Amino acid sequence: MVKVDLKGCSTFVKPELYKEYVKKALDAFDVLESEKGAGNDFLGWKHLPSEVPASMLADIDAICADWKARGVNLVIAIGIGGSYLGAKCVIEALSHNFAKQLAKKDAPEVVFAGNNLSEEYLAELMDLAAERNVACIVISKSGTTTEPAVAFRVVKQYIEERYGKADAAVRIVAITDAKKGALKTLSTQEGYKTFVVPDNVGGRFSVLTPVGLLPIAAAGLDVKGLLEGAKEAEKVLAVKSEENPAVVYAAMRNLLHTECGKSVEILVNYNPKLTFVAEWWKQLYGESEGKDGKGIFPASVNNTADLHSMGQFIQEGTRVMFETVLHVEKAQRSVVIGTDEQNLDQLNFLAGKHIEHCNHMAELGTRLAHIDGGVPQIAVSFEKVDAFNLGALLYFFEFACGVSAYTLGVNPFNQPGVEAYKKNMFALLEKPGYEEQTKAIRERLY
Ligand code: PA5
Repeated sequence: MVKVDLKGCSTFVKPELYKEYVKKALDAFDVLESEKGAGNDFLGWKHLPSEVPASMLADIDAICADWKARGVNLVIAIGIGGSYLGAKCVIEALSHNFAKQLAKKDAPEVVFAGNNLSEEYLAELMDLAAERNVACIVISKSGTTTEPAVAFRVVKQYIEERYGKADAAVRIVAITDAKKGALKTLSTQEGYKTFVVPDNVGGRFSVLTPVGLLPIAAAGLDVKGLLEGAKEAEKVLAVKSEENPAVVYAAMRNLLHTECGKSVEILVNYNPKLTFVAEWWKQLYGESEGKDGKGIFPASVNNTADLHSMGQFIQEGTRVMFETVLHVEKAQRSVVIGTDEQNLDQLNFLAGKHIEHCNHMAELGTRLAHIDGGVPQIAVSFEKVDAFNLGALLYFFEFACGVSAYTLGVNPFNQPGVEAYKKNMFALLEKPGYEEQTKAIRERLY
């Protein structure tokens, strides 16, 4: 299970103040567990791991088996925000670093679209599609989000032209609302197999619904292990205690923000496979807490690479940040440093050592240096980057996010600010119904 270590905060924080924040976090825990707080109609994610329907997993397996039988080797997963980042983060974390380059392929490659409006991106995706046997998962809870809708229009037309309408209907799967939205209407009309995003699960909390599970399964990864890890976390985190890792994390990050003036939290990893865990985490905390003029700005670095780019700022720049370090206890592969007769690089003192030992020393050395530089350190540890531990980590961050946002005094489950750019974009694109806004926005520009 995930452990949270606060030793790296001890020089910044008085124990009695920490106790006060634990009390606040425990009150927030009660609000989350009573299911009576703000946004309580979006708490379906809490019990997803223990209540996952076997029939849904069987349907997912059946689709993957059908696509395998058809020789599908490219699955285009279309979605944005919460309808993209969970699957992307799990696939990146659990896949071989060089899966794309390796000759042996056990499962289709899953690539993503609908998370940008780049014309070049879509054109080049179609170049790839032309060389492959293609299927598509289109994901939009609302069924009306512009970016995925635009991408889906292109991919749908491509699949229909290449395979014909009837075959397209089995190569396209939609994940959307049970009843409403354009994607639901289209799926019914075209006869697509559909999965439902439950009404009570918001996008950024949806990784353990088909939104995340179908693309993850399509990539041939261990969905059951992921759910097992999340289930274990669900059990552990439901226990009210000062030692509950979610309470500990929520208490300390709120304390550092409110009492020590830290307005930026940097999620740090030392394993490239975790890069997209940070992207998923940024959406989870950014959309859940950044509202009403409040919130900690979530940022991330990938070390040791970013020690050679962002390291200087973190060590000596404006003192606005604290760090939360993802500490992975053990590597699952082994590379030992050898002896070199000439020793020109003077690294023979490392001969016989595992690379991961050096990685851990880099991590520890950095944490100590950053503490000396005025950057408090929270460590979130787990055993290894596998499906079980990743499931536990994702659930831990979701649960802690609920506790933390209630501690901060905001509704974790809405995102009213996301609409602002859409209104301007539609006005600029002259969407019917936006005539007044188009006129107003043009006057601002000229
Ligand atoms: O967390 C959220 O709710 C958002 O990030 C959504 O996931 C994102 O805007 C995509 O929305 P939809 O799935 O409705 O297309």
